[in-house]
Amino acid sequence: MKDVLTSKFIKEMCLTTANMYRLGWDERNGGNISYLLDEKEVAEYLDLNKVIREIPIGFEAKELAGKIFLVTGTGKYFKNVTDDPENNLGIVRIKADGKTAELLWGYKDGGKFTSEFPAHMMSHIARLKADPKNRVVMHCHPTYLLAMNFVHELEDRAFTRSLWQMCTECIVVFPDGVGVLPWMLCGTNEIGVATASKMKDYRVVVWGLHGVYGAGKDMDETFGLIETVEKAAQVYMLTAHLPRKNTITDENLVTIANHFKVNYRKDFID
Ligand code: 13P
Ligand code: ZN
Repeated sequence: MKDVLTSKFIKEMCLTTANMYRLGWDERNGGNISYLLDEKEVAEYLDLNKVIREIPIGFEAKELAGKIFLVTGTGKYFKNVTDDPENNLGIVRIKADGKTAELLWGYKDGGKFTSEFPAHMMSHIARLKADPKNRVVMHCHPTYLLAMNFVHELEDRAFTRSLWQMCTECIVVFPDGVGVLPWMLCGTNEIGVATASKMKDYRVVVWGLHGVYGAGKDMDETFGLIETVEKAAQVYMLTAHLPRKNTITDENLVTIANHFKVNYRKDFID
């Protein structure tokens, strides 16, 4: 059996968490990632019959029974993942009852998956229905996007439009727009249900006055999605208080969306 630390999926997780920390999106233990793994690939590194311990999930995720996820640990710092993956990450398989996770590797110090596990698993369920290729759900606290939450109305259409207008290619990267939730208590099943409900239509969900969720088919795509949203929020915050001399018009948005043949939210255009 090969050493799991040499696997592509652990390397990707280390690289991504390090990049997110470097960009200031994940202070302290802020942020969490879940990555749906391919069973055959995991079997090259781990004995799938060897369960280290069982961890209750706190809700039912029957749709994900048998699926294996690499997930960041609760209370763990993204800045430390690369130096100690086995303590800061875990590989879990959802049991047939949907209520329990079987730990196959990691959380070595007795820890467990992120407190946002409900939002992650419920988002995976929603996104897999929308796109069977979806594998990654990512949460973090990007600085400018968070700042924008304090000065912009928290509503899907208005928020999406403001972001689209900040960089020409935003509408190409997230043509489906951005869903926005009001402030809610994090780490609960309720915020998980609300996030998953938005994830039916959006791959980006803003958690009002908290942070953002992104979903995608792989690490790069999901990271790039959040990176693009954060860039737009940065431009917004750098210009919001200044007189606007120029703007990307709705006509411009339609022109670029048509050129790149993306299926954008038509009802978000005036
Ligand atoms: P965890 O440390 O449990 O992953 O929580 C971090 C976080 O960002 C909560 O929203
Ligand atoms: Zn958070």
